[in-house]
Amino acid sequence: MKPYYITTPIYYVNDRPHIGHCFTTLVADVAARFQRLARGGPPSPAPVFFLTGTDEHADKVVTSAAANHTTPQAWADLNAEQFRRAFDSLQVTNSDFIRTTEPRHAGRVPTYIAALQAAGDIYKGQYTGWYDEGQEEYLTETAAKDAQYRSPINARPLVRRTEDCYFFRLSAYQQALLGHINQHPGFILPESRRNEVLGRLRQGLNDVPVSRPVTSDPATQWGIRMPADDANRVYVWIDALFNYLTVVDTPDRRHLWPADVHLIGKDILWFHAVIWPALLMALRKSAPDFAWVDLPRCVFGHGWWIAEGQKMSKSLGNFIDLPRLDAYARRYSLDALRWYLLAQGPLAGTDADFSHARFVEVYNADLANAIGNSTSRVGNMIARYFDGVVPPPLQGRAGEGLPIPESDALAAEFPYLCRATVERSLAALDEFDLPTALRLGIDLVARVDLFINQTQPFKLAKTVDADPSARGRLADILYTCAETLRVASLLLSPAMPDKMATLWRDWNCHAELLDASADRPALESLARFAGPHALKPGAPLSRGDPLFMRADPAEPAPQ
Ligand code: MSP
Repeated sequence: MKPYYITTPIYYVNDRPHIGHCFTTLVADVAARFQRLARGGPPSPAPVFFLTGTDEHADKVVTSAAANHTTPQAWADLNAEQFRRAFDSLQVTNSDFIRTTEPRHAGRVPTYIAALQAAGDIYKGQYTGWYDEGQEEYLTETAAKDAQYRSPINARPLVRRTEDCYFFRLSAYQQALLGHINQHPGFILPESRRNEVLGRLRQGLNDVPVSRPVTSDPATQWGIRMPADDANRVYVWIDALFNYLTVVDTPDRRHLWPADVHLIGKDILWFHAVIWPALLMALRKSAPDFAWVDLPRCVFGHGWWIAEGQKMSKSLGNFIDLPRLDAYARRYSLDALRWYLLAQGPLAGTDADFSHARFVEVYNADLANAIGNSTSRVGNMIARYFDGVVPPPLQGRAGEGLPIPESDALAAEFPYLCRATVERSLAALDEFDLPTALRLGIDLVARVDLFINQTQPFKLAKTVDADPSARGRLADILYTCAETLRVASLLLSPAMPDKMATLWRDWNCHAELLDASADRPALESLARFAGPHALKPGAPLSRGDPLFMRADPAEPAPQ
């Protein structure tokens, strides 16, 4: 099986990381961890390749470097480090981190451009249009008009510009793109984004500029030069898109291509769902050397975070920045923060609001009251009634000619329920529906809680002295609960690796199996109820500390 290759956008280094960047990379991390878990196998060759990094040749890097009295390269170095640290602090498990100023990228981009030039897909011309200086992109005439000649992103007036430049023959790829998108319903997700792209694509395509002039202005001297033409540099967006390819365009990594998912925000959908695939189509046919350059399997455009009901902006100063996220991680645990961002984030169609009240609500409902409470309840009962030793499930539940007590009939469903839940979770993962893939873990926890309420093991425990068969049933109930929670914890572990590893250590499971650095079976085998990796009757199980303490909704937000 080809390793799963997932990418995030590469982030502009003119600024510090905030929730938007952290979110995209965190979602990719959870997808990467989930895929590693789903696939299993030895750590090497790695079953997943996960790429993130920084986009460094933007004009605004030059401007903000100057404003900070330093050079663009020094400014990029400083900020790239901030991104690296931010992702480390979120325990992101990226396989590589690309910076577009690195020679492995900057040295390779001109080769692609030259191939496109030789094939006639990049040609020289002149461009006049409406330029959004903040975004460093031209808007089409219609888009500029619709936006009343202001930036749709920051509302600053668009600027009319004319310049010599090289064009990419995007117009030649309209039919091929339409064909590809129509034949591959999963190519652009979610569906609403796909429709958005199709609608715009049907209106026709203009060729797009792929270079910017180099003048005496220092701001124009930052960037990769066009092949054999020092008077022009590669437009930062074209430079940036190629990162997905440069990183794997080495003999030992070429097998990783194509990317399985380019995870991005909705604002950069057009570049990824139209321009990028067209560039790849053009490159592929430009020379036999590039015959391996297939199209990525999926471009997934998530929505945006807003903060306490308002769009985040510099002028409002309401960005949820790294110190704010850290404060949440310190008070509620990093895993709780990861859970909230994943479970409540704008992955599907609509934007999501980061609100403190909501955070606490979700924390209490999913973590403190669900997985946290359920594991400590079951751990406590096993400690109390079975001296902290995993009790045995009933053998041969059916077919012994004995009436099946109520609890056994209910318990008998759990192996099937677990299997079906894991299958549904994997199916959701396949569609990049991570909130569902994770939520199914919480649903299993809810089933355990219901089962406890139905079978009342704490009442049954009071009868074991008078009725010896009750002890067997009690053991069966608690085994069923604990084993189902083990399966649930597997589904939760990509979002909450630390807490689930703590649970596995407490419960004397092999916690190293939650870690991709171990050689491990695929999820379906790992999660088999009472299977080879299940809780072992007779083994010690420590109740440990509660995984999540209840949060007080009245406490003010951490700062
Ligand atoms: N450098 C380009 C991407 C080049 S990829 C070949 C870029 N960088 S960015 O730093 O401005 O933004 C990167 C990502 O952060 C985008 O996917 C964008 O959608 C995301 N976010 C920025 N603000 C966001 C929110 N408020 N909410 C969620 N994601 C947002 O664009």
